[in-house]
Amino acid sequence: MIDSILDKMTLEEQVSLLSGADFWTTVPVERLGVPKIKVTDGPNGARGAGSLVAGVKATCFPVAIALGASWNPSLVKQMGVALARQAKSKGAAVLLAPTVNIHRSGLNGRNFECYSEDPMLTAELAVAYIEGVQGEGIAATIKHFAGNESEIERQTMSSDIDERTLREIYLPPFEQAVRRAGVMAVMSSYNRLNGSYTSEHHWLLTKVLREEWGFDGIVMSDWFGSHSTAETINAGLDLEMPGPARDRGEKLVAAAREGKVEAAAVRAAARRMLLLLERVGAFKSRPDLTERAIDLPEDRALIRRLGAEGAVLLKNDSILPLAKTSLDRIAVIGPNAASARVMGGGSAQIAAHYTVSPLEGIRAALSNANSISHVVGCRHNRLIDVFKGKIAVEYFKGRGCKGDPLHAEIVDKGEFFWFELPSGELDPADFSARMTMQFVPEEGGEHVFGMTNAGLARLFVDGELTVDGREGWTRGENYFGTANDEQRGTVTLEAGKAYEITVEYEPSTASEEGINLIAVRFGVEKPLGEADIEAAVETSRNADVALLFVGRDGEWDTEGLDLPDMRLPGPQEELIEKVAAVNANTVVVLQTGGPIEMPWLGKVRAVLQMWYPGQELGNAVADVLFGDAEPGGRLPQTFPKALTDNSAITGDPAVYPGQDGHVRYAEGVFVGYRHHDTRAVEPLFPFGFGLGYTRFRWSEPLLSANEMSSEGVIVSVDVTNIGDRPGSELVQLYTSSPKAKVERPDKELRAFAKLSLQPGETGTATLKITPRDLAYFDIETGAFRAEAGNYQLVVAANAADIRFVIDLASPSSYLLPTSY
Ligand code: BGC
Repeated sequence: MIDSILDKMTLEEQVSLLSGADFWTTVPVERLGVPKIKVTDGPNGARGAGSLVAGVKATCFPVAIALGASWNPSLVKQMGVALARQAKSKGAAVLLAPTVNIHRSGLNGRNFECYSEDPMLTAELAVAYIEGVQGEGIAATIKHFAGNESEIERQTMSSDIDERTLREIYLPPFEQAVRRAGVMAVMSSYNRLNGSYTSEHHWLLTKVLREEWGFDGIVMSDWFGSHSTAETINAGLDLEMPGPARDRGEKLVAAAREGKVEAAAVRAAARRMLLLLERVGAFKSRPDLTERAIDLPEDRALIRRLGAEGAVLLKNDSILPLAKTSLDRIAVIGPNAASARVMGGGSAQIAAHYTVSPLEGIRAALSNANSISHVVGCRHNRLIDVFKGKIAVEYFKGRGCKGDPLHAEIVDKGEFFWFELPSGELDPADFSARMTMQFVPEEGGEHVFGMTNAGLARLFVDGELTVDGREGWTRGENYFGTANDEQRGTVTLEAGKAYEITVEYEPSTASEEGINLIAVRFGVEKPLGEADIEAAVETSRNADVALLFVGRDGEWDTEGLDLPDMRLPGPQEELIEKVAAVNANTVVVLQTGGPIEMPWLGKVRAVLQMWYPGQELGNAVADVLFGDAEPGGRLPQTFPKALTDNSAITGDPAVYPGQDGHVRYAEGVFVGYRHHDTRAVEPLFPFGFGLGYTRFRWSEPLLSANEMSSEGVIVSVDVTNIGDRPGSELVQLYTSSPKAKVERPDKELRAFAKLSLQPGETGTATLKITPRDLAYFDIETGAFRAEAGNYQLVVAANAADIRFVIDLASPSSYLLPTSY
């Protein structure tokens, strides 16, 4: 059928399929019954086509690092199934996920959106996720291919990565997704790879992806990440996103006519687009693009379960789980206690159906609300707290908010990130909007107003210009580098008095290079100081337990910028130290999208890392703290003692964050534990680390053979839960190689199993390895090479907790081609 449609298509029609129609849909060819389909972000939910921050509500699942910490492919697959249902509820046929870039520096703003520092763990979870999504008839889009491990100068930076490192560390998740999960779409990255944009990288998109791995799906660009006509199509990029066409359309038709692009290349790309439509069933029933909000009890339960499954207990000095009955007074402290930080920032954001904060979760778990006192203590936000409350918004045709509004609406949050304006009569390049709201301060004194805008905006308090986001506007880091840095203004306000806040917005007039988004975010807060820390200390002093909710939020862990360091932002370290000094039962609950330094670790009783686990955050926190669920998480990323212990942070800016447009992955394959192990750099918490509430006994491993053969070897380990609570245990299998032509890591993860066991129960971890698991990528032959010799199998609970080392001879050498 596809070929007969293609035969009937004109060149123009074929070309029309190769760019989006708009931000989220493809171009239909009505004449031939080719429908339009919709794509949607993103990894932890299906947002739909409206606003990035205030669209139709969607179910908010855990972010990828929390899934990485779960080490649980089968639960991740279930989440994939649920996500497919969410995508359908938004009329979408393609989900723009999963993100499988590797945790390289720990400072990547999108670290939270990626699973792990290890390619094998990343690949296993990505395969499960894709199988879940695609099994329900929705296409998954694995991204960002490849070398997108940082957000610094992300539209232009060249990631300079040698081929061995690519093949061993950065490409395997993509390779496995193609080979094992049959992923239907791949998204090229923004960055260049060894000098060329990945969206026009023939070696990457055609030689490796299609010819070696046999990929037969589509490759789409990241949004505005393709920059040429002939080069992209000749390299193998099928779909330019978003639409309407920029470098394609008429330009591509002309290039084809001039012979710069072969007609066969256009046809092949158009064919792949039609195949995608067929695969998602778009020819069978015409896609209904309507968006609905579907909030299912089974999804809530799955998210709550995943929250605990990814929760990593880093320290527990015999305090957790807390006994609900023995606690009279609980102090709940910190900037992440009453605010539910459920996800990271950037394109992965969705408008969650609801959120449960830790404070709400604890209250619900305890029923005796009187014993809980909450004090925030300090703030950590990068941007001023966003305004929450009733906002009247009026939209005008043209600039300057003149005449009668064309459309008016009421919203409840001071953040606007428009993809579609509320009326088709409004021109995104020539409209204006006025937002009016009242602010009644609870306390008197100095208040800070803040605003950041992609476009031009001014904020007035009772008619006085307080924040000017117009005069001298310059690009900063917010909104993917399309907005100014937050501008601030301070005003002294009286408690209880109503102030009128007005914001006037219009799009930018500059025809600047790059993306021009339309967005504005504003807020107000009363700065906190020493007195607020003291109040937290006083509340904690006489409490039976002080629960400290600290970390970051989606303004820090976000697409568009990297983190400045690995410390807790704001005065949070001081807050921890001071609370811990007066309360010996201080439990720190962390929420970050990656590792942090913990100079305060020795002073607190317990540390629980929750990441950003989705809308059920508070319930999952309470489940783990009170022992209704076990902390099932194990670190998917090494937590170094200090930032400088990370192998990408060498002090040489060319290695990180990059210099003169290039970032050189000089550490090669020595990423994460491969670096810490091999170079003997002791981490704070090793890769795979995490405590539980029970104990296990491991039996001596059994091998199916004591020599490697092409069939592989199966290692089995019996594990018994010898405690009196249920719990789960992670069994990791690493390989360790004899000396080779190239320097190899001390050990490399090749298989794992996570067993969930009742008290007294025994389970078996069955772990298989094959010759490829012994191999490194040999540049000279362009193949994976396992030399003959004596290898070791390392059976471990985490990278630093080795239980057994077993010799394994490989009498033969193997040379395994990249295509098989
Ligand atoms: C991100 C992608 C995302 C796309 C569409 C880009 O900024 O890098 O991951 O899918 O936007 O929102």
